[in-house]
Amino acid sequence: MVMQKKNYTKINKPLKLIPIVFILLFYISSCYNDKAEILYPQTVCDTTVVTYSRSVIPILSSNCITCHGGNTPSAGIKLDDYISVKQQVDNGRLWGAVAQLANYSPMPKNGNKLNTCSLEKIRLWIVAGAPNN
Ligand code: HEC
Repeated sequence: MVMQKKNYTKINKPLKLIPIVFILLFYISSCYNDKAEILYPQTVCDTTVVTYSRSVIPILSSNCITCHGGNTPSAGIKLDDYISVKQQVDNGRLWGAVAQLANYSPMPKNGNKLNTCSLEKIRLWIVAGAPNN
């Protein structure tokens, strides 16, 4: 009787730790993907460093250059090199088109308006003088 009781407690001591280990593992793993950019891609807009190469080119590349790139760009407007993009900034058409202001042809043509974050990056870059940075 005494032996039995002794063994019982000896075996169960480590067993009692199992739930604690699981809770610890869960706690640690739950932090793994706690990155706001991953969890809420639409709500976080990083506009701390806006540059032509880092911010503007990726937006134009994925939304515009299928039509405005290469040797025969739509409306003769090239958006795949800085000089050409800068021209469209300076004549006001780039902003007019993406912000879809009155009297401008709304861009991207036949597509959804650029999201708020992309528009804000383009706007900040233009306000800064549209530098080739
Ligand atoms: C599906 C093809 C297509 C896409 C994608 C596209 N464009 Fe255009 N874009 C055109 C055409 C065609 C015109 C000539 C005007 C018209 O037909 O509406 C034009 C005209 C323009 C103009 C002149 C607008 C004006 O009123 O003077 C600008 C600036 C422009 N596009 C910029 C952009 C930018 C920036 C993007 C990406 C955000 C973009 N376009 C995406 C086809 C496209």
